Amino acid sequence: MEVWAVANQKGGVVKTTTTISLGGLLADKGHRVLVIDIDPQGSMTTYFGYNPESIEASVTNLLRAENVTRSDVQAVVKKTNDPNLSLLPASVGLATIERSGSQAGMGLKMTKAISKVWNDFDYVLIDSPPVLGTLMINAIAACDHLLVPVQTEFLALKSLERMLRTVSMVTKSLNKELDYTVIPTLYDQRTKASVLTLQTLRSDYHLNAWPSFIPVDTRFRDASKQGVTPSQFDAESHGVVAYKGLLEELMSKSQQNDTHRSRLSM
Ligand SMILES: Nc1ncnc2c1ncn2[C@@H]1O[C@H](COP(=O)(O)OP(=O)(O)O)[C@@H](O)[C@H]1O
Ligand SMILES: [Mg+2]
Repeated sequence: MEVWAVANQKGGVVKTTTTISLGGLLADKGHRVLVIDIDPQGSMTTYFGYNPESIEASVTNLLRAENVTRSDVQAVVKKTNDPNLSLLPASVGLATIERSGSQAGMGLKMTKAISKVWNDFDYVLIDSPPVLGTLMINAIAACDHLLVPVQTEFLALKSLERMLRTVSMVTKSLNKELDYTVIPTLYDQRTKASVLTLQTLRSDYHLNAWPSFIPVDTRFRDASKQGVTPSQFDAESHGVVAYKGLLEELMSKSQQNDTHRSRLSM
């Protein structure tokens, strides 16, 4: 199993869309995929037709519990209209967990819950809230790879720096090495801000910046209205084609890491 988290403390940078697009493409390839919503706003939960205000069993139950079993996790998992894609939904109650602060062990709850369903899924993708708090720490702790979508505009660069500083503090305290990929998003080649920000991301973040970008594409909004993954809605749209390229890059990175890991353990 491979766990990817999508995070950035800025809203509207297409974290949720990235989680659903990549999750949908992995499901199209026949992988068993679980997408986890740990944003109290529950955008991804709403996307798939569940109501985060009234849902009874959600990821909140798992983060509150002292210990969880495999069947506790399975009981919370919901279906989507894609048979290979399952959802661990959010509820608005997640906000109280964010406010309750960081008691000991609180940051590792997600890691433990995911470990119970290790054999049930090939990929787990976590969509995080735009807040550098307990919930995002849970996502960072649980993942093998971090994806950071960044809107291609000037102000985004400052908040990216801040975000990556926090990530490095968290990973140090967890004694964990974490590889990340910066994903330039909402790219509009007609605007100077997009063009210049993309150049800066490439030069400042080198191998950690995906050299391509996700373009502005209104088809994502149309897909969200139907509650289907963007590739189910229109597999040939510019945006989906861009996410296909990103997925190839991420899969080849994870293969390289696997080779590296197996060499280390020889
Ligand atoms: N490539 C895109 N081009 C244009 N609009 C997009 C694109 N991707 C997503 N959107 C729309 O932008 C809005 C914010 O995206 P979302 O994924 O919810 O961001 P976040 O989770 O970072 O807050 C949504 O309405 C979504 O449909
Ligand atoms: Mg979101």
